[in-house]
Amino acid sequence: MNIAIIGAGYVGLVTGACFAELGVKVVCVDNDTDKIKALNKLKIPIYEPGLEDLIKRNFRQGRISFTSDIDRAVARSQVIFIAIGTPPKDNGEADLTGIEKVATAIARSMTDYRLIVEKSTVPVETGSWVKHTIEINKKKKVSFDVASNPEFLREGRAIHDFMHPDRIVLGVESKKAEQLLRELYGRIDGPILMTDIKSAELIKHASNSFLALKISYINAVAKVCELAGADIEQVAEGMGMDKRVGRAFLDAGIGFGGFCLPKDLDAFITISRKLGYDFGLLKEVKKINEFQKEDFIRRVESRLWNIKDKTIGVLGLAFKPDTDDMRFAPSIDIIQILQRHGAVIKAYDPKAASRAKKIFKGVKFCRNAYEAAKNSHCLIVLTEWQEFKELDFKKIKRLLKHPLIFDGRNMFSPEAMEGLGFKYVSVGR
Ligand code: UDX
Repeated sequence: MNIAIIGAGYVGLVTGACFAELGVKVVCVDNDTDKIKALNKLKIPIYEPGLEDLIKRNFRQGRISFTSDIDRAVARSQVIFIAIGTPPKDNGEADLTGIEKVATAIARSMTDYRLIVEKSTVPVETGSWVKHTIEINKKKKVSFDVASNPEFLREGRAIHDFMHPDRIVLGVESKKAEQLLRELYGRIDGPILMTDIKSAELIKHASNSFLALKISYINAVAKVCELAGADIEQVAEGMGMDKRVGRAFLDAGIGFGGFCLPKDLDAFITISRKLGYDFGLLKEVKKINEFQKEDFIRRVESRLWNIKDKTIGVLGLAFKPDTDDMRFAPSIDIIQILQRHGAVIKAYDPKAASRAKKIFKGVKFCRNAYEAAKNSHCLIVLTEWQEFKELDFKKIKRLLKHPLIFDGRNMFSPEAMEGLGFKYVSVGR
């Protein structure tokens, strides 16, 4: 089967590379010609474990190609996935102008039956708009179907998530669309859930908002733990042993970031309001997430006294480990507020430094954690990279001006850190 993927971002590239690996002939399309040129030279624009190998292998075997020519891609592909970004507008709504443009371009290039699949995260009812847009823009009397196939992959584990999904959600409204998607996804070992299009669209927003809710819930419980003198790690473990609750997404810290959770939460609040429901619960989820960052800064302040002219070593900038993605990373707000208070920031991240350099002004980027610690008044941990677990903390202690660590991700055991002679401040314990 020949398929086209419009949008060579995280979702588009991972989907394309994985389908190619499964024997499908894939063409990835993007209107960013520089990105396409780079991809044709096998320069992968994002860091995602395993992706580069997968793309290189399938490119050499002729199963994946890259182009900016949407007409040709539509002409040779029976199934077309739309995987372009839907960035948030100022009011929290998803910006769908890109989806409309792509739908129009697809409509104008169709010469025969096509199945157009929304893979981008879009609000409920986008499927109807895509259908309408194609209907009014198609030139020939060709038939087509629209389907919704939300993507649930996590950055850093995207290939694993694609190949071994908890579920594959396919929102369809015709037998032909169902059959084509079953043929494609039959290659993957994972349960398929067939739904109508609107339900598929809602599953994505409802799932991501629920994950955000779980994180804010545990962060609120962490605050109560702090006040009560309990330990959030033990509480989360006890809660998570109940299968109905589950341990995943109960890690307290400085809150969630990334391009999906914050954006999808905003979008879901807005969609609900537009439909006539005030989703107050989700507004609170958002508020707690902001509070986590403010509270973390307050704690740094309460130990350092004056932040002005203090040097703060930062370990981790990416919104989570195993990615170079800085979008909506909690580190952005935290560092910028500390800088506004007059702190000097020395930061180290194993992968995100080059993206972070475009965001921060006046931050000294270090080559390793030890350089960030050297002569700093304290260390703050903002991303739980595995390599931080393996640091020589005796050396860190010697390098720091004061043995003071603020851990925004609860990476270490308080007993172990205190045993090494650190003043160690973490979240909810
Ligand atoms: C998320 C969803 O998990 C995925 O299904 C969807 O397709 C895209 O959005 P991703 O953005 O890659 O994936 O990151 P995720 O692993 O979900 O983490 C999101 C944020 O929550 C990170 O900033 C992470 O540090 C934070 N987090 C996660 C916590 O603070 N505590 C937790 O227990 C889990």
